This record gives sequence, structure tokens and C-alpha cells, in this order.
Amino acid sequence: MRIKTVDLTKIFHVGSSEITAVNKVNFEVNEAKFIAIVGPSGSGKSTLLSLIGLNDYPNYGKIFIDDIDTVLLSGSQRRKIRLSRMGFVFQTFNLFPTLNALENVELPMALANKSKGEQREKAVRLLEAMGLSNRLFHRPKELSMGEMQRVAIARALVNNPELIIADEPTGELDSKTAKEIIRLLFDINRKEKTTVIVATHDEKIVDVADAIYSMYDGKLKLEG
Ligand SMILES: Nc1ncnc2c1ncn2[C@@H]1O[C@H](COP(=O)(O)OP(=O)(O)O)[C@@H](O)[C@H]1O
Ligand SMILES: [Mg+2]
Repeated sequence: MRIKTVDLTKIFHVGSSEITAVNKVNFEVNEAKFIAIVGPSGSGKSTLLSLIGLNDYPNYGKIFIDDIDTVLLSGSQRRKIRLSRMGFVFQTFNLFPTLNALENVELPMALANKSKGEQREKAVRLLEAMGLSNRLFHRPKELSMGEMQRVAIARALVNNPELIIADEPTGELDSKTAKEIIRLLFDINRKEKTTVIVATHDEKIVDVADAIYSMYDGKLKLEG
């Protein structure tokens, strides 16, 4: 998936004050790239990712996906792109606590109207690929942090996304587990040609990225 933003701007109003969380960002990512976005807390990384993930609307500027101006899309077209072409990984995993690992992974396929049989077959296969074949029926609170993140990555992959957006995916993990998670994301990028955009403080992610951007006060800058 190719993504391009032009002067992308997001302003929050809190009481009488205005926060420009994303300030005229021009960003371009080509297919199959692994991109890291670094920057201090509050610099606008998560806001930028939620705009690119079509989870929020900019105040100004544009986001193009494969040359389509996303401003022209309806809400349901945006949801369809999110569901069927993007996968999301978060710092705190965002798994449903009442669902077991299998059910968490099946959920995006259920929303995409895949058959029950296909849902189960694919969820099992992905969880096995994540090394979790003996955790299928565990609920999130019965899993370690690293296992929860691997369930979340399996969930992000079920609808064969062209883009994975990961917001501080190793933020809650110890260094060894973080390495395993980075390896998984990197392998997906290299093998499946999935574009990966990661907001992170983790040097280990920065080391494997094709390009590194830094964010400061809503401004994005290419580092290398
Ligand atoms: N929903 C919101 N309402 C108001 N302010 C917000 C909201 N989301 C983020 N912000 C503000 O926007 C700025 C950027 O936040 P964020 O994108 O979460 O940064 P980062 O992910 O780099 O830590 C911060 O000042 C934050 O307080
Ligand atoms: Mg953030």
C-alpha cells in the first residue's frame, strides 16, 4: 500500500487552548517498506498514525492511499479499507478480555463476513505461526505480555493487510520479548511485502527500519 500525506494537520481544542498535534506533515511511504517514527511523548506520533489509519479526520491537508484521496471516501468505504487492507497493533494490545485467543483473532474475519470454517482455520494457522498453538483457548489475562502481543499481531494479519500500523508495539515488553515481536513484524514485512509503519522509542526497531522519521511538536522530519 502506498500512502502519501500533504500538509496533514490535526488540531485539538481543549478548553480554550489549541493543540496542533500534527502540523503540516508531508509523508510518503511506498509498498513493502518498514518505517519507524520516533519522537518524545506528546509529539504527535499516535495522532498521525490514527489519521493514516483512517481512524480520525484531519482539520487540513490530505491523505492519499494508492493515489485515492481519502477525503472523498464515505464512512463505510473508510471502514472497509481499515478492516480489509490494514492491520493495527497497539502498545497495550487492545484484546477483548472476555474472548480467548482464537476468538480475538477471528473477530476481524467475522466483521469481514468470512465463513466460520475459514475463520477458525486461519486463526489456528496464524496463532500456530506465532508460536501459540498451546494458547488457543487462553483469555488475555491468562497470557504473558509477549503472548498477548503475538495474539494481537495474528489478529492484525487475518484479513491479509497491505499495511500494518503499530503504535509502540514493544512499549510494554521486556527487551528479549521485544526482540521477538520486532522479528515477527520484520519477517511479515519482508515475506509478505506488507508495509509496516511503527511509532516507537525502541532502538531495536529503528535498527531494522528502511527509513526513520522523527516527530517533534507535530512536525515530521526524515532522519535517514
Ligand atoms: N483526543 C485528544 N484530545 C485532545 N488532545 C489530544 C488528543 N489526542 C492527543 N492529544 C494531544 O496531542 C498531542 C500529541 O499526542 P499524541 O499523538 O498522543 O503523541 P505521541 O503519540 O507522540 O505521544 C499531545 O499534546 C496530546 O496531549
Ligand atoms: Mg503515542
